[in-house]
Amino acid sequence: MDKYKIGIIGCGYVGLITGVCFAELGNKVICHDIDKEKIVKLKQGIVPFFELGLAKMFTKNKNRLSFTISVEEVIENSDYIFICVGSPSRNNGEADTTSLFRVIDQINSYVKTYKMIIIKSTVPVGTAKKVKELLKEKIEQDLIEVISNPEFLREGNAIYDFMNPDRIVIGADSFKKAKNVARLYQTFSCPILLVSNEDAELIKYASNNFLAMKISFINEIANICERVGADISKVSYGIGLDHRIGNNYLQAGLGFGGPCLTKDLKAMIAFCKRVITYEPHLLKAVLKVNELQPELVIKKVKEVLGNLEGKRIGILGLSFKPGTDDMRNAPALKLITSLVKEGTELIAYDPKANKVAKELLKDQIEFAKEPYQVSYQSYALIIVTEWKEFLDLDYEKIKSYMIKPILVDGRNMFDNDRIQKLKKMGFQYFGVGRNL
Ligand code: UGA
Repeated sequence: MDKYKIGIIGCGYVGLITGVCFAELGNKVICHDIDKEKIVKLKQGIVPFFELGLAKMFTKNKNRLSFTISVEEVIENSDYIFICVGSPSRNNGEADTTSLFRVIDQINSYVKTYKMIIIKSTVPVGTAKKVKELLKEKIEQDLIEVISNPEFLREGNAIYDFMNPDRIVIGADSFKKAKNVARLYQTFSCPILLVSNEDAELIKYASNNFLAMKISFINEIANICERVGADISKVSYGIGLDHRIGNNYLQAGLGFGGPCLTKDLKAMIAFCKRVITYEPHLLKAVLKVNELQPELVIKKVKEVLGNLEGKRIGILGLSFKPGTDDMRNAPALKLITSLVKEGTELIAYDPKANKVAKELLKDQIEFAKEPYQVSYQSYALIIVTEWKEFLDLDYEKIKSYMIKPILVDGRNMFDNDRIQKLKKMGFQYFGVGRNL
């Protein structure tokens, strides 16, 4: 028997994963999106993006899932309504909550019986309060509760992360209301935090900002390592053994990318400045370090090759991390834009993201069909995304194709043994924060 009736508004990454996982937990789920084509595809059983394990789980639970372009239908057929619409960056860095408030307007006109409205979208602190003001009448009639329930999924690990959460955060203005939503997650053994809406909204931003801070921190230490003859992989391991610090998110490289860490950092900085008139010095520095990181790699290439004008350079990896074709805020974009400005001829290969990258970069660079092609007549290769398969390429063959055998490992994916082998072959190897 189905447990609860759940509605999902917004079938993007977070929405669809949430919907499919709730169906897997035995709930009846109705999902909405304004994109008609997407809904037609979903009705035909076609998942619109790749995420490990999603298509299989979708098929397994298709009898518990339905799709619609009508918000009214979602409201009629569910008790718990999750809002999972996007909150993209505006030009000034602020989170754009237009889609969320459009949905709230519709909810205001359609709700006639008791519903829990649950905000899963990442939204600035104070958004739930504004939503409550807009829905005031319905709240006073005891027809609506407004809950904040942020998500902490990582792309590429989303199904695992949903099913094995470190914590569930539920923000509401009373313990009773929060408990009502907590029951949806009762199968999980993790802590369930019942907090205020503001606490929940801030926990989401602070978590992503903290992860970004760890990455910029280790990148700064890596830059120091290069100047003092230390090795960042040893330093990072040594730091992380302190259980108060931990080893995660201490991998130095070209910096963080993706749809969330940068967007949420910029949104928090803009929020501090514009809404609460507070200067977020540390958060600004986290962003600055990240913006500069690709430039430092280019500087390294210039130190070895001199003027880059007219020189051909191969790029291995384009997506913001392995396991996805997502190019949003990918460090590859910054790196490529700067190298193109230097007059470099670029050729790139990515196992999954070539097509998406081509749409973004058009004919600014050449795209290779297979990884070896990026080495033909190249003066250097730069690894931008740490796809495992790059470790197992035939580097003898690669060297024979290159004008200069220079390998810049922008993700420190090669361990010491592999680096020694490369060096024996005659490669010049450069990592980030390594003096090998
Ligand atoms: C991030 C958070 O990790 C999730 O908890 C959060 O739910 C999600 O944003 C979101 O708000 O939706 P995601 O963007 O999928 O998840 O990516 P991550 O796996 O966190 O990686 C982000 C970037 O940091 C990547 O470019 C990665 O290469 C880089 N990174 C990560 C490093 O440079 N070093 C590290 O040690 C770890």
